[in-house]
Amino acid sequence: MHNKLKKLQVAIFISGRGSNLESLIQSSFTKQSLVEVQLVVSNNSKAKGLTIAKKNKIPFIHFIPRKNFENKVMKYLKNIDIICLAGFMQVLDSKFVRHWQSRLINIHPSYLPAFKGLNAQDQAIKAKASYSGCSVHYVSTKIDSGKIILQKKVKILKKDNTESLSKKILIEEHKVYPKALQMVAKTLLTRQQ
Ligand code: GRF
Repeated sequence: MHNKLKKLQVAIFISGRGSNLESLIQSSFTKQSLVEVQLVVSNNSKAKGLTIAKKNKIPFIHFIPRKNFENKVMKYLKNIDIICLAGFMQVLDSKFVRHWQSRLINIHPSYLPAFKGLNAQDQAIKAKASYSGCSVHYVSTKIDSGKIILQKKVKILKKDNTESLSKKILIEEHKVYPKALQMVAKTLLTRQQ
C-alpha cells in the first residue's frame, strides 16, 4: 500500500470568461497534480466562468456587491491552502493580502514588470514593444508587483494587434498558470514537512 499524499485545496477567484479557471481545473485532474480545486468564487453573478465550475462539479459562490467582500468570503476559505486569482477584477484589501501572503497568486498578461495594470496587451501594442508575455506572481499590496513565480515571453510581430496578441498570450497563460500553481504547492508542501 502506498501513502496517498494529501492534496492542497485551491480556491479560484474569477470575474469573467474563466479560460484560466478551466485550464487550472483540467490540470488539477491529472494524477500527479498536488492540488484540488475546491471552490470557485466570483464577484460577478454573470461570469461565464461559473458555467465552467458547474460543468466540472466544483462548488461556486458569487458575491455582489463588492462591499465587505473580503470579510464575507473568508468564512468559505477555512480549508483552503492556496487562492488563485484568474481574471478577478477587484483589488483585494491589504489585510486580506497579508493574511494570504505566499498563498495568493495571480496571472497577468504581460512580461512583468512591464505593462502593469489594465489592458496590458493594448499597452504593449501601443508601446510598440517587441515582446510581451504573461507572468504568474504572488499578490502583494502593490498591484502586479509581487514576486514572480513563472513567466513566459511572447513575440510581438508587426502585424499583431491587441486582439491577436491577447490570443497568443492566452495560449501561454493556460500552460504557465497550472505549472506555477504546482510550483507553489510544492513549496508549501515542502515547508509543511
Ligand atoms: C487573462 O488574460 C488574465 O491574464 C487576466 O485576465 C484575463 C482573464 O481571462 N488577469 P480568463 O477569464 O481566465 O479567460
